[in-house]
Formats: sequence, structure tokens, C-alpha cells
Amino acid sequence: MTQVDVLLGLQWGDEGKGKIVDVLSPQYDLIARFQGGPNAGHTLEFDGKKFVLNTIPSGIFNEKTMNLIGNGVVIDPIILKRELDNLKKAGHDPVAAGKLVLARKAHLILPTHQLLDAANEQKMGAGKIGSTLKGIGPTYMDKTGRNGLRVGDTTLPDFAARYAKLVEKHKEILSHYEFEYDLTEKEAAFFEAIEFIKTIPHVDSEHFVNGYLKAGKKVLAEGAQGTLLDVDFGSYPFVTSSNTTTAGACTGLGIAPNKVGDVYGIFKAYCTRVGGGPFPTELDNEIGETLRQVGHEFGATTGRARRCGWIDLPALKYAIMLNGVTELIMMKADVLDGFDTIYACTHYEYNGETIDYMPYDIISIQPKPVLTAIAGWKTDLTKITSTDQIPSQLSAYIAFLEKELEVPIKFLSVGPDRTQTLTLR
Ligand code: GDP
Ligand code: IMO
Ligand code: MG
Repeated sequence: MTQVDVLLGLQWGDEGKGKIVDVLSPQYDLIARFQGGPNAGHTLEFDGKKFVLNTIPSGIFNEKTMNLIGNGVVIDPIILKRELDNLKKAGHDPVAAGKLVLARKAHLILPTHQLLDAANEQKMGAGKIGSTLKGIGPTYMDKTGRNGLRVGDTTLPDFAARYAKLVEKHKEILSHYEFEYDLTEKEAAFFEAIEFIKTIPHVDSEHFVNGYLKAGKKVLAEGAQGTLLDVDFGSYPFVTSSNTTTAGACTGLGIAPNKVGDVYGIFKAYCTRVGGGPFPTELDNEIGETLRQVGHEFGATTGRARRCGWIDLPALKYAIMLNGVTELIMMKADVLDGFDTIYACTHYEYNGETIDYMPYDIISIQPKPVLTAIAGWKTDLTKITSTDQIPSQLSAYIAFLEKELEVPIKFLSVGPDRTQTLTLR
């Protein structure tokens, strides 16, 4: 019997998960998304083309790989339909090719979930989470509150009545906000999209994935968001509403913990965050602006400017521990090409002490990063194609990170294209 490998983000999302899942997908029979929803934006580039996926797993461009949207994912039928329509226009039709299946137990995002998200954020004003406003929080609230609608419900004869009952509840809540809305258009699009998603095969993800394992096939679970946005372990309340960590792959697909194999932890050679919340190594200055411009750090889903800063090792160590990371993947090293010196945060100064872990409260008391200087490589990495072309300063940075993090770096990414990926080990 095989095991499920997991690939997930170790920072605040947008580490480059989509690119690497695409690169690895030829080695896997099944790619499975296990949490989050269309708050995610996973970018892939190959043959001069660029795709951004929100709900669909990043394995769809590989001919032989099956893709599953797992039970832990929340699905906006309108966005899923739009994603598939756009792919079709670009010559890719994973539904027709029989390469996409949907978990019956995945919860549905209703148009009113998005309204609730927006009304809530509007009310919070300056203290808002900075949600992507895709309705993620309210949908997971209905899931745990035992009110939600699931993909499997769409085939029941009373689906419209169930929908109406939940929308009634949402309208009641919305009446307590000063929030104007018009549902008519969205509702029509929702029901049209529901008809469409009925054409995608529905499966029980727990049986589906375990069936693959029993047959000795290889499965990769694709995370969304990042560890520091995990609802339990992230910078709460500035988090998303799902478990973005390895444990989330178990509940989000229906696999037992002893079925988890390799855990690929992916991180940028620096750090970014989009939305509100603490960010100890943030560079709210010219250096941060340089990282943003060179790294094109603007959200794949919302277009918002991402906040940028130096790599944060206490945060990475925390993420590695939580996820049981067995291999690291370093992304976007090329973005640092122009710097004479780069920096890594090794400790925090916090409450008069020097500490090397993330303390409970990083919101009211901001940790001050203790930085170590590292020589830059001043080389165009985007053109390198083999490990013997890696400049010595970058090799030293990699060795420094491996020593600090105590996990080997397996892949190094030096550009957004599929081909700009080096295998170090
Ligand atoms: P994801 O959400 O983790 O899949 O990451 P995103 O797609 O939101 O953001 C990563 C961005 O960086 C995308 O625009 C990618 O095309 C780009 N990217 C990925 N790897 C590299 C790399 O090694 N170098 C550069 N310069 N860009 C990269
Ligand atoms: P991928 O998968 C980066 C952030 C939002 C906000 C917080 C809560 O592309 O890495 P939500 O919409 O979940 O209520 O937003 O989480 N966020 C992400 N940041 N990448 C993502 O996904 C994100 N998904 C949510 O910006 O701060
Ligand atoms: Mg993203």
C-alpha cells in the first residue's frame, strides 16, 4: 500500500504551491486539494502560458493525472464553473477528459456567504482580517454549525428548499448589518452553476483516495493558503477558516494519519503576506517595495499588493514542526538576485527577552526581528539550468537554512516557469 504525500505552504500563502504541484504531477496518479476554497490562487506557467487556479487542483495539465477536490474544500459553484469555462477556452477540458472529480461531502459557498463575509469585514473597519471576500469564513461556520449544504445535496429533490432555508437564515443575519445587497443576478448564476457541477462526477473522497492507495497508486495532497494562516496555529484571528497544516489533509480527504508519506514544505527565499495581521519581518520601506516589484508580489486572486519582508526562521521552524516536513522547497530565489546583502531573522526580541519561537501574542506585542546578514549572489538565477551553476553565495545561503531548519532543501525554484526548477538532492 502506498501513502499520501503532502505539499503545503510554510508561510502566509502564495509560496508557489501551484507551480511545484504542476512540476511534480507527472510522478503522481492523483492530485487532491484538501482545504480552503477560491480564496486560493495557484499560478502555473509553461510553454509561455500562464494559468491561475482557484478551486481546481494543479495537476490538471498533466495528461495522466486524476484530480480530486476533497471534502475539506469549500466550493463556489460559480467560480468553479468559470474556472472550467476559461480552461476550456484555452484548450483544456479536464471534465471531458475524465480528469476531475468532486467530493460529495465538500461544502458549497452560497452567494449569501459572500455577502456575510463582506458585511462582517465592512463592520470591522480598520481591524478587518483582509479576507478575500469569497465567503470562506461564513461557509466553514455553517459547516461546523451543522447548517451547511454539500455537493451531494445538489442531487436531492429538495435541494432548492434546503437552499431557501439557509438563505433565509443568512438574510436574517444580514438584516442586523447596515449592508445593501441585491441577490437576483448571483442567485440565477448560482443555480446555473449547480446544474453544471452536477456534470462533474461526485465521489466519496475517503473511499476514492484510499482506493488509490490500496491499488499502490501515488497520491499528492495539495495545500492551499499557508501554515501561518491555519485557524488553530496561525496568527489568530488574522487567519483563514481551515486547517492548512498536514493534519488538514487527513480530515480534508479522509485518510488516516499513518497514511501520510513525504511532507513537502514550500517557502519563499523571503516572506510575504496579503491581508491584515502581524508580520514581524515586514519591510515597510524601499527594500520591501523592491521585493514586491521584482517578485511581482500582487495577489493572484484579488490583485492586492502583498506585504514583503525577510525570511523568518522562528516562523519556519514552527511550521516545519506542525507539519512534520520531510523535504523543503525554496522558491523565488531569483527575486533576491540584485541584493548585495540579504537578511534572515533568526530570533525575536520580545518583552525584553531574545526568543527563537513564535510567542502566543504577536498582535498586541510585536516581536522585533533579530537579523543575520548573508552575502548576496548578484547573479541572474533565472538562466541557470543545473546545480553546478549555483553561485557559491547561494550555496552558502542554502547550507545556512538547512542547518537552521534541520530539513534538506530538495528543490530550488529560480523563475515562474515549470522548467525553472532545480533538483538539489
Ligand atoms: P501559490 O498560491 O502558493 O500557488 O502561489 P501564487 O501562484 O499565488 O504566487 C506565486 C507567484 O510567484 C506566482 O506568480 C508564480 O508564477 C511566481 N513564481 C513561482 N515560483 C517562482 C520563482 O521561483 N521565481 C519567480 N520570480 N516567480 C515565481
Ligand atoms: P493561496 O492558496 C495568501 C488570506 C487573506 C486574509 C486571510 C483570510 O493562494 O496561497 P479568507 O478569504 O480565507 O477569509 O482570508 O487569509 N488568504 C491568503 N493569503 N494566499 C492565499 O491562498 C490566501 N487565502 C487566504 O488575504 O488575510
Ligand atoms: Mg496564491
